Amino acid sequence: MSDAPQAYAGPERVFSGVQPSGSLHLGNYLGALKKFVDLQEDHDCVYCIVDLHAVTVWQDPADLAQQTRHIAAAFLASGVDPEKAIIYPQSRVAAHTELAWYFNCVARIGWLNRMTQFKDKAGKNSEKMSVGLYDYPVLQAADILAFKATHVPVGEDQKQHLELSRDIAAKFNNDFKAPGFFPLPEPLIKGPGARIMSLRDGTKKMSKSDPSDNSRINLTDSADVIAKKIRKAKTDAGVMPESKDELKDRPEVDNLVGIYAALSGQSAEEVLAEYSGQGFGVFKPALADLAVAKLQPITELMNRYLSDLDEIDRILSAGADAAANIANPIVADVRDVMGFWKG
Ligand code: AMP
Ligand code: TRP
Repeated sequence: MSDAPQAYAGPERVFSGVQPSGSLHLGNYLGALKKFVDLQEDHDCVYCIVDLHAVTVWQDPADLAQQTRHIAAAFLASGVDPEKAIIYPQSRVAAHTELAWYFNCVARIGWLNRMTQFKDKAGKNSEKMSVGLYDYPVLQAADILAFKATHVPVGEDQKQHLELSRDIAAKFNNDFKAPGFFPLPEPLIKGPGARIMSLRDGTKKMSKSDPSDNSRINLTDSADVIAKKIRKAKTDAGVMPESKDELKDRPEVDNLVGIYAALSGQSAEEVLAEYSGQGFGVFKPALADLAVAKLQPITELMNRYLSDLDEIDRILSAGADAAANIANPIVADVRDVMGFWKG
């Protein structure tokens, strides 16, 4: 479908969200946080801690607020600057849930039935899952479009949800004869960090829900633990190849090369040029040193932020006010477009 009839003429804006459930890992850092930091320099950026998405599966009320602060600390420690970007918790801005309801009436059941993340998360138990988990992608579309965001930095696993957001925006614009009201948001996925895989199985993505802690590097891991996990990472009996083509049937090696490239800011080709012909006894320690050098300062800073909860809470409150100032007028316009009583 061409974008032309819906051409959106408003300003560019970046929006993304991270769930406050479980601790963040290297995949989150390379797929999302690192991009957040790069984008804030020359874009208007809004970064949301999506606690309403987190409660689509059980969250202990005793931990939820602290989990939210934990993600805020990870944002700040990674370099997201509250002077340059808005950081806030989703539950404090009611525009998200209001717009999600309107979008529930725009999105079609058939569209949601195609969402692979729901199928993956629900498995055979879909009848026992919350309605919220099924509706999760509609709330995600509302997050993005309550800010008329044009660009969304995410990992590869969010591609299908972004396509749904575009479909909802296009159908809203079309149904309500409001061409260009919503932009069709573009995912920003490219780059070597877009899909970091498990250290134990190169065909599965690195994930907070993997039962094996050795499958992932957490942002809270100590230098020793990071080095040990990389030393134990699954590889094969070969040596480092010369070209990317030779990585096709070696998913674990491909993943480690990708991690090295993303952390060092090099291309995979440059990494291979440096290490081809070497065994993993050379490459793994080099990767461990690099990972520790990049992640340790973040872990230390995170701990420092977490020792001053008042400062985090002040940043989140100010962020929520700033976010509401952008989203509330947009959702008020949506009410007008849909024709609700105004009084
Ligand atoms: P989540 O923790 O599921 O809320 O994800 C937060 C962000 O991290 C999203 O943009 C995801 O796409 C991204 N992400 C999660 N896992 C990975 C991974 N293994 N590789 C790259 N990006 C990821
Ligand atoms: N679904 C995303 C994830 O699991 C998190 C998310 C919620 C999000 N709302 C968003 C990401 C809006 C980008 C934009 O990673």
